[in-house]
Amino acid sequence: MSDKSSNQMWGGRFAAGPDAIMEAINASIGYDQRMAAQDIAGSRAHAAMLAATGIITDNDAQVIREGLLTVLSEIQGGTFEFSTALEDIHMNVEARLKEIIGEPAGRLHTARSRNDQVATDFKLWVRDQIDAAIEGIEALIKSLIGQAEAGADWVMPGFTHLQTAQPVTWGHHMMAYVEMFGRDLSRFRDARARMNESPLGSAALAGTSFPIDREMTAQALGFDRPTANSLDAVADRDFALEFLSCASITAMHLSRFAEELVIWSSAQFRFVTMSDKWSTGSSIMPQKRNPDAAELLRAKIGRIFGANVALMTVMKGLPLAYSKDMQEDKEQVFDAADNLMLALAAMTGMVSDMTGNRENLAAAAGSGFSTATDLADWLVRELNLPFRDAHHVTGSLVAMAESKGCDLPELTLEDMQSVHTAITRAVFDVLGVDNSVASRMSYGGTAPAQVRAQIARWKDLLT
Ligand code: ARG
Repeated sequence: MSDKSSNQMWGGRFAAGPDAIMEAINASIGYDQRMAAQDIAGSRAHAAMLAATGIITDNDAQVIREGLLTVLSEIQGGTFEFSTALEDIHMNVEARLKEIIGEPAGRLHTARSRNDQVATDFKLWVRDQIDAAIEGIEALIKSLIGQAEAGADWVMPGFTHLQTAQPVTWGHHMMAYVEMFGRDLSRFRDARARMNESPLGSAALAGTSFPIDREMTAQALGFDRPTANSLDAVADRDFALEFLSCASITAMHLSRFAEELVIWSSAQFRFVTMSDKWSTGSSIMPQKRNPDAAELLRAKIGRIFGANVALMTVMKGLPLAYSKDMQEDKEQVFDAADNLMLALAAMTGMVSDMTGNRENLAAAAGSGFSTATDLADWLVRELNLPFRDAHHVTGSLVAMAESKGCDLPELTLEDMQSVHTAITRAVFDVLGVDNSVASRMSYGGTAPAQVRAQIARWKDLLT
């Protein structure tokens, strides 16, 4: 290098080094060091391929590949000194390799650019996170199934508008979330299959004149095939965006359940008791047991949505191929992934450790005229009333119960007959919540038998 202060990787045409502020805005090493293992795996695959195709010697490749392992162990052992002047993980690793093995290090970057290198590293990193998300969601589904099995026939109020609607079963409510997280699983799996193409060998943007073997590096890195267009490959961050959008939908589901747990654990509801492990007390109010984990989980979701919007905004309007804007992709994805994994683990723990309060659930299930629809259905079935008329008769009975300060099953037969003469004692059979839920035998309905069938189906799917 003629000038010590210009960059040793590309300083050939630069007379002076960068301004300090330029260095600060340009450097990504503060965060992209998280991709060190992926960077080194990519470089090792590249070096092996360069030797197999005769572009570098076997000996150089071997020295490079071993040197890279030394660099990796330095990084993992915490002894590696990251340099901001070297911008990013790619140049930090290569510079250290040069210190360790000397001249052959300079041959590693043949037929490659940081553009295909970073796309490869980041894809490998995101792919690992997809695998972790899949594992995390599967664990959560298993804990939900555990709750559903324990309370397949426990009755509780089902809500619409957060107003008592019809009785449902605890198991049915848990299995609703299993369906939601099950769709999340399949979204992550789809995203993984679509993104699993290797950008390595796309070089800066146009491909390379060297006789590389992209199939070989793709295979070595666990990709299904190489990407088919080098311009696209270095400019594409869809895989990160798909990860963030899958993560956002999962996060949205987590926040809905978190919200329910906050409501359910309140003194007004007492539907669940959260384990001490997932609650906190108050420094001033001794009676408090706050569902902090659920609240934090509800809030963390905002960061994941934020990352999705931020990266969409970074990518919007960028001309092909690579632009430095794209360096802003990583921190958002790192933060979203960290928080998603934390949220999944916290929710799995909370669900496994919580106790549904069967008696409170049952008491609430019977209040609020929750079997009014059962009464209306009975009038249709037994007295052949048109549903609209049955709805009207039932409405009058609800009003009567309300004015007497009782629930529907507490009305007398005479009360009932004063509204519709043909009503018989048999109507009382459908006013109980257990009969109500047992009668909802339509496929996917809340009857315990239906819930158990869905539990069996999911257990099958997960093995
Ligand atoms: N640190 C860069 C990034 O994260 C690596 C690619 C740099 N490429 C370039 N042509 N300057 O995007």
